[in-house]
Amino acid sequence: MENKKLLEIEHLKQHFPVASGKLFEKKVVKAVDDVSFFINKGETLGLVGESGCGKTTTGRTLLRLYEPTSGRITYDGTTIFDSGDVPLTDENGQPVLNEKGEVQFGHKTKVNMLPYRRKMQIVFQDPYASLDPRMTVADIVGEAIDIHKLASNKKERQERIIRMLERVGLNSEHANRYPHEFSGGQRQRVGIARALAVDPEFIVCDEPVSALDVSIQAQVVNMFEELQQEMGLTYLFIAHDLSIVKHISNRIGVMYLGKLVELADSYELTFHSVHPYTKSLISAIPIADPKTSRESKRIVLSGDVPSPVNPPSGCTFRTRCPYATELCAEKAPEWREVSKGHYAACHHLDKIN
Ligand SMILES: Nc1ncnc2c1ncn2[C@@H]1O[C@H](COP(=O)(O)OP(=O)(O)OP(=O)(O)O)[C@@H](O)[C@H]1O
Ligand SMILES: [Mg+2]
Repeated sequence: MENKKLLEIEHLKQHFPVASGKLFEKKVVKAVDDVSFFINKGETLGLVGESGCGKTTTGRTLLRLYEPTSGRITYDGTTIFDSGDVPLTDENGQPVLNEKGEVQFGHKTKVNMLPYRRKMQIVFQDPYASLDPRMTVADIVGEAIDIHKLASNKKERQERIIRMLERVGLNSEHANRYPHEFSGGQRQRVGIARALAVDPEFIVCDEPVSALDVSIQAQVVNMFEELQQEMGLTYLFIAHDLSIVKHISNRIGVMYLGKLVELADSYELTFHSVHPYTKSLISAIPIADPKTSRESKRIVLSGDVPSPVNPPSGCTFRTRCPYATELCAEKAPEWREVSKGHYAACHHLDKIN
């Protein structure tokens, strides 16, 4: 795999305005709050965390399906979004200074998103809601081909549709049917064919198997892997369950309440996690063979995820963390590299590990 960044997000924020109930009082949901990561070409980055922690919003915001509140997004060397308030850094991560020694910030850029709308695709979580019930499978797959003018005539268009269906394990007989005539797994294959039809480079896979029967989840995950090999794709693979992304991901990031709490190589994250939240997620994965059961005890978190409208001060995880101290309420922990390529945000890493 080339170690070349395809996508990078820096200090990305997505704050949605919400009704507060009180007149003249504005509130926001900090769905994504200062998230930074990159994905290399040909790589799969897994993104996990409990429901509502901001995984879908991260995926949609980096595709600019939602306009970001702030931050910077760079795709294949081109800045496709920059709110102008993120410091520029050089290739070593050092701030870029001007002649006066002041830190340089990004510049707002206007980019024609159309080519990126083709290169960057998404496969949605719910194959029942994401396909228009009034369109045939051929129309659904063909629509994307038309938008990006990828077929010069009807025959070419039809051939491309059939080729895409075959790629995902369907065939020409399926082309003129409607979504309701398919099983959940087949619908998700249609959703994948739609994404592939425009010859993308990067796909946000937003919990693509969560709505499917457990018996076919592995099949579909394997298909994602095969397609990646064949077509040289790069994935952001979202799941709430670590056990699903563990195998398919090169690296995994863990989110909690709009923030990344830990990110590392998959093996490293699975066996040497340092953040208490990651540790609790890992200890929740059932182990098939009790003889090989790991020594560490199951870590059960108390309470629910707090509301992102009113997140706790300091470290947002502190209200459920068994190690929290006063410092955690006062100050948000810094996102830092704890060992090569292994990032985490916690005040008490030394004490816990
Ligand atoms: N368009 C929106 N307007 C207002 N709030 C939103 C919007 N979309 C998401 N949110 C809120 O942002 C937070 C993050 O939601 P998001 O859907 O990104 O989480 P998620 O991690 O994908 O959850 P799940 O695992 O359930 O899919 C939630 O509190 C959600 O209610
Ligand atoms: Mg989601």
